[in-house]
Amino acid sequence: MQITTTVNGRSFTGEVEPRMLLVHFLRDVLGLTGTNVGCDTTSCGACTIHLNGESVKSCTVLAVQADGKELTTIEGMATEAGLHPIQKAFQENHGLQCGYCTPGMVMAAASFLKENSKPTEREVREALEGNLCRCTGYHNIVKSVLAAAVALEGVVQ
Ligand code: FES
Ligand code: FES
Repeated sequence: MQITTTVNGRSFTGEVEPRMLLVHFLRDVLGLTGTNVGCDTTSCGACTIHLNGESVKSCTVLAVQADGKELTTIEGMATEAGLHPIQKAFQENHGLQCGYCTPGMVMAAASFLKENSKPTEREVREALEGNLCRCTGYHNIVKSVLAAAVALEGVVQ
């Protein structure tokens, strides 16, 4: 099937198999390998991206469902000016160990902080409950998201 989609600001039109998962489209067709596959069963959140500004697990979405939509992956977060404030917060607060879950964590956090710019620690933990870190570095991940909220001008309670 032919689809047209915008990924990180660039338009793509082409044929995809109807059964192709969005995460495989991003990684294998577009070469955007920053989006990881951790489980393929909607459990881990490593594949989290933004679809029309909302975070989705891209292993749960078909590529054809991206037709006419705008996608943002981790590759689309930094600008020429540098890392996105959330990426910078993860860097500064040691919010990663092996880094496998990190792209999904950053994308989930970005979506969450748009909805709640002044989160409590508990709210951050609840918001990220669909994203698993196999290194179990949750303390610094939460710290990073709280720091990102401040950097994005939110006032942490
Ligand atoms: S790979 Fe999509 S949720 Fe784990
Ligand atoms: S940092 Fe290794 S899986 Fe989260």
